[in-house]
Amino acid sequence: MRYAPVTDSLADLGGAKWEVHALARRMQAAGEAVIELTIGEPDVATPPALLETAARSMAAGRTGYSNGRGEPALVAALAARYTARRGREIGRDQVMCLPGTQTTLYAILQTLVTSGDEVLVGDPMYATYEGLIRATGATVVPVPLRPEAGFRIQPTDVAARITPRSRVLFLNSPHNPTGAVLSREDLAALCQLAAEHDLWVLCDEVYEDLCFPGVTFASPLDLHEYAERVVIASSISKSHAAPGFRSGWCVGPAEFCTRLLPLSETMLFGSQPFIADMTAEAVSSPSPIAAEMMTRFQRRAALIHAHLHGTAGLTVHMPQAGMFALLDIRATGPTGEAFARALLAQARVAVMPGESFGTALAGWVRLSLTQPDDRILEACTRIAAFAAAQRQAA
Ligand SMILES: Cc1ncc(COP(=O)(O)O)c(C=O)c1O
Repeated sequence: MRYAPVTDSLADLGGAKWEVHALARRMQAAGEAVIELTIGEPDVATPPALLETAARSMAAGRTGYSNGRGEPALVAALAARYTARRGREIGRDQVMCLPGTQTTLYAILQTLVTSGDEVLVGDPMYATYEGLIRATGATVVPVPLRPEAGFRIQPTDVAARITPRSRVLFLNSPHNPTGAVLSREDLAALCQLAAEHDLWVLCDEVYEDLCFPGVTFASPLDLHEYAERVVIASSISKSHAAPGFRSGWCVGPAEFCTRLLPLSETMLFGSQPFIADMTAEAVSSPSPIAAEMMTRFQRRAALIHAHLHGTAGLTVHMPQAGMFALLDIRATGPTGEAFARALLAQARVAVMPGESFGTALAGWVRLSLTQPDDRILEACTRIAAFAAAQRQAA
């Protein structure tokens, strides 16, 4: 039988990046004691009050069809939140609700680009971005993120890759996997460049509430003069430890939302009203758990830094936000992929190879900060011993 080309263009993007994680899960299922530092699932519970709201709402019959834009109360709550946070009026016609940041990004890119277009995106990047872009038929144009610039995307690196086909500058701040946070000045320079070349600026802000102390979050929505070309996406997955609810949204120009609406209606015919009710409550006040989560992640990143930075030639990149730390393992010899596989086999610690996030992170691995401190410490001990042995053998 024949299949559409999209099935081929996405075929190599699914499982391959997550092989070490899948292997670790199989080992755990077979009874082996693996320390899993691969994926970033928050290690705290969704706030009980939100669960109660969702359950109450479901019991009250909020289980019918919704609409393609989102439940009116949630759309209003998001408009109010972004008006307050971004210091300018964000109308209800500038908000769209979709199931999670992931679906939202998919719908946004389908609205903005097609075959023949180019999307500029930082490399390394979150593992699904390549697929999101390829699914539109557009070309991924990786912009290297440099450790010496704190992995913050540099306007000169973007400018060097702009062509007449460029349509979107796809940002992610706070960034996964590097934990880099773009400053207002970074964003001003990037938006200025986008305006000069008539590009959209798309920013994935799902880690907004997980910035470490002293780090100020900034959004391209803050820069009012570029409002007609900025779209952001986010969700309650990280801020409220609620990824299973699949509740996200985007904010952008009213015309953009009008264009996106038929696509959302075609794909989804609306989301679940009881989840919308719970999300409206979540976004109407500061998250009751984000600050505590952020404190834990920062403490664990500091533990990893204290134990591994400078050990056996390893270098730890301290994140500014989010739930991951990066380890430069190049001094030990192998690629990130080979290091991760051997570390799992020999030391029973599962980490993500840097190569899963793009070519710029070859020779690095990503450590998730979502395990208890004592497990993180034990993982550090095993990683240090493993890296020392690797280095000796090299
Ligand atoms: C950068 C980034 N964007 C999006 C997502 C997915 O978010 P959501 O659960 O809202 O779809 C993740 C999840 O890990 C992520 O790290």
